[in-house]
Amino acid sequence: MEYRTLGKTGLKVSTLGFGCGAIGGLLVRGHYPDMRATVARAIELGVTYFDTASMYGNGQSEANLGAVLRELGEDKGDRVVLGTKVRLGADAVGRISAAVTESVEASLRRLGREQVDLIQFHNRLGAVSRPVEDHWSVADLLEVAETFDRLRGQGKVRFWGFTGLGEPAVILDAIQTGVLHSVQSCYNLLNPSAGRAVNDDFPYENYSQMIDAAGTAGMGVIAIRVLAGGALAGTLDRHPVAAPAPNPIGSARDYASDVAHAQRFACLVHEGYTETLAEAAIRFVISKPAVSTALVGTSNQEQLEAAVAAVERGPLPAPALARIADTI
Ligand SMILES: NC(=O)c1ccc[n+]([C@@H]2O[C@H](COP(=O)([O-])OP(=O)(O)OC[C@H]3O[C@@H](n4cnc5c(N)ncnc54)[C@H](OP(=O)(O)O)[C@@H]3O)[C@@H](O)[C@H]2O)c1
Repeated sequence: MEYRTLGKTGLKVSTLGFGCGAIGGLLVRGHYPDMRATVARAIELGVTYFDTASMYGNGQSEANLGAVLRELGEDKGDRVVLGTKVRLGADAVGRISAAVTESVEASLRRLGREQVDLIQFHNRLGAVSRPVEDHWSVADLLEVAETFDRLRGQGKVRFWGFTGLGEPAVILDAIQTGVLHSVQSCYNLLNPSAGRAVNDDFPYENYSQMIDAAGTAGMGVIAIRVLAGGALAGTLDRHPVAAPAPNPIGSARDYASDVAHAQRFACLVHEGYTETLAEAAIRFVISKPAVSTALVGTSNQEQLEAAVAAVERGPLPAPALARIADTI
């Protein structure tokens, strides 16, 4: 397993991160023995970054992850780097700091920990603050970050970041504030615009190379939607533990269209660059040096093992990346 530095935090994280969200869903809907076995295997294979959130399974993911890590003796020491998130509702308007503090304290209780390594704002950003539509301004984010800093003083969090979803220009503004340590960025074969320039007629959200901007600003970058929620496995079939076909983020209108689009990249398998489409998708993301860790949501241990095998093969070779550039 390769390890990269999460920006200026100095934290070392595995290039493959373990997604504990509802997509994949093992830590939300799986059986506890399967969760424990898969997390243990992930750690054995060198995975050290675990990503959860207060909203995943309405706290269930945090509770399960906390219990598993405790059972494995990984709740202490510094091998595992644990990130969680705060999602504000419209009722937080006028009391952002209190709402953030309450959320972090509730997360710590569910996780059974005194501190998390990384706390992240989970809401979307927009030019104008419209919390009812889940649009939060940079000013709101700065208030959140100030609270995170206060919580650091109390030993409850170490570093903080945000989710790079919403209006791209505002996300770039947030990166430029210099007060955040990390960003979660949607980056995959279907929509690589967070990490490369795209044409004006690019059909999806243009994430305006935010990964490069974050890298230049010394921030850690956590790639999300690496498999486009599963579409980049190339099939409409879902594992029984997985969520139903998820709403695409930054790609087509519906999951079936994403699956159809994903077929364009089957050439990477046919031409012998990778064994599977999922392997190509994961290796494409880690080919970007500014990506600190690529999160993959898994439904079972087999998927985890396949994802680890993919990152073990390393970044894609230049001819494969050139083929991708021609195909996008
Ligand atoms: N900050 C945010 O707002 C945000 C948003 C999204 C995600 N995230 C984070 O990112 C994590 C990943 O979620 P995601 O939405 O980005 O999903 P993803 O990783 O792009 O896709 C996960 C899906 O891919 C399939 N899969 C996983 N491993 C596979 C393998 N080795 N071979 C073939 N298929 C495989 C599974 O589908 P099947 O089970 O159907 O086979 C799984 O449900 C989340 O757990 C969360 O931690 C954060």
